[in-house]
Amino acid sequence: MSETIGIVGIGVMGRNIALNFSDNDINVVVFNKSKDKIDDLIHEGSKKNISGFTSLNEFVKNIESPRNILLMVPSGEATNSVAEELLDLLDHDDVLIDGGNSFYKDSLELGNKCKKKKIRFVGMGVSGGETGARHGPALMLGTGDNIPENLLSMIKSISAKSSYGDCVGVYKGYGTGHFIKMLHNGIEYAEMQILAEIYSILKSSNLSNIEISNFFESLKEKNQSSYLIEISSEIIKKKTNNEYLIDTIKPVANNKGTGKLTVETSLESNFPLPSIYEAFNARVESHFQKIWPKVTHSKNLNVDLNKIENTIYFARLSTLIQGILFIEHFSNKESLEIKIPEVLQNWLAGCIIRSDLLKDIKEIYEEISTDSSIVEIEEIQNQLEEKLDDIKTTINKAVESQIALPVIYSSYNWYINSSNNFNPSSLIQAQRDFFGAHMVQLLNEDEFIHLDWV
Ligand code: 6PG
Repeated sequence: MSETIGIVGIGVMGRNIALNFSDNDINVVVFNKSKDKIDDLIHEGSKKNISGFTSLNEFVKNIESPRNILLMVPSGEATNSVAEELLDLLDHDDVLIDGGNSFYKDSLELGNKCKKKKIRFVGMGVSGGETGARHGPALMLGTGDNIPENLLSMIKSISAKSSYGDCVGVYKGYGTGHFIKMLHNGIEYAEMQILAEIYSILKSSNLSNIEISNFFESLKEKNQSSYLIEISSEIIKKKTNNEYLIDTIKPVANNKGTGKLTVETSLESNFPLPSIYEAFNARVESHFQKIWPKVTHSKNLNVDLNKIENTIYFARLSTLIQGILFIEHFSNKESLEIKIPEVLQNWLAGCIIRSDLLKDIKEIYEEISTDSSIVEIEEIQNQLEEKLDDIKTTINKAVESQIALPVIYSSYNWYINSSNNFNPSSLIQAQRDFFGAHMVQLLNEDEFIHLDWV
């Protein structure tokens, strides 16, 4: 007997994931207030296994228990209100899956609400945008319950595939799937900003749009590419009416808040994510341009594209390591036993940050099959060390030419600060103790003491 999935919400992501389930011979029952939208979806499906209802009650009644109900509605209020209604209609052991971009703490709360009603809950991060939802997303599942085998099999059937298998991660804890998705989005912000900073450098090097596009494209044959690098190459050379589209777009970046939540969570945890912070801040700063009477100008520079290539790799690897360290920290703090190699596999295909770099790092883990922290893997530090001179050259040239590189520079600073034998923070402690008697610890001592400064 073929399986059935109920889907609430057939907007861009919901409609595409419904068609994906349908293509995989899974019966799809949808709920939407608009009958026209339901009819359009049924018409678009090729397998005649999609049905729909404009009444939530009818929708639930027409799915046999134990039901699997997937929410594909905007995170926050929309998800909460439809979940509240469903909790009064579902039966024990039904499974409610939140496939929206929900904040992990909201998923934890909703999971606990479901538990009280003996309804199982899965917080599922879905990555890959519209194309991913339609043809193979990366799916990050978090649950405190056991996921029925038939549901897991349905989810794996629609997911992206990598050489290591399905890009589906199943993590302990109702909010953990959305936590992993949140880090995905934070890394996404940083990767996008790194490419924007390289675009800025290459523009100031007087490369044409075609030359910049070709440079990004060339990274593919060197196994140093990514989905974001590939689309950036396409974007920069795209022309309409004999004009480059990119040159007609206002240089102001918006966001729906997914990366901001990553930064806020890291600040709350007192955990460093400088590259992701700088990427979010760069979007905010893009709304505050030319605030002075005089406009400054970057100066032309000459760059060695091999050094630029290594700069991109260094900055991306530094950002990825920062994100993985935060996942390790969260996993240890909440006793979630998250396995980093599984997170890497989760992101190998389908998602926005899919890349050759992720494959490289996954392979390193496979070779050493270790549970140790990413910063204990010497091969990974070697990769940073090998490219250190080139990122320094790029930063020096950018400083000379007055080009801002917030994420590239913070990725370099983070590595130096986290590896250098000297750190100047003793002066900070001394200043705090001098003016506020906030006390210091002397070297190799745990006790805090106030020193006599006058
Ligand atoms: C994905 C994307 C997606 C994200 C949008 C908007 O993994 O498919 O990360 O979930 O929400 O790209 O992101 P911002 O508006 O926050 O840039």
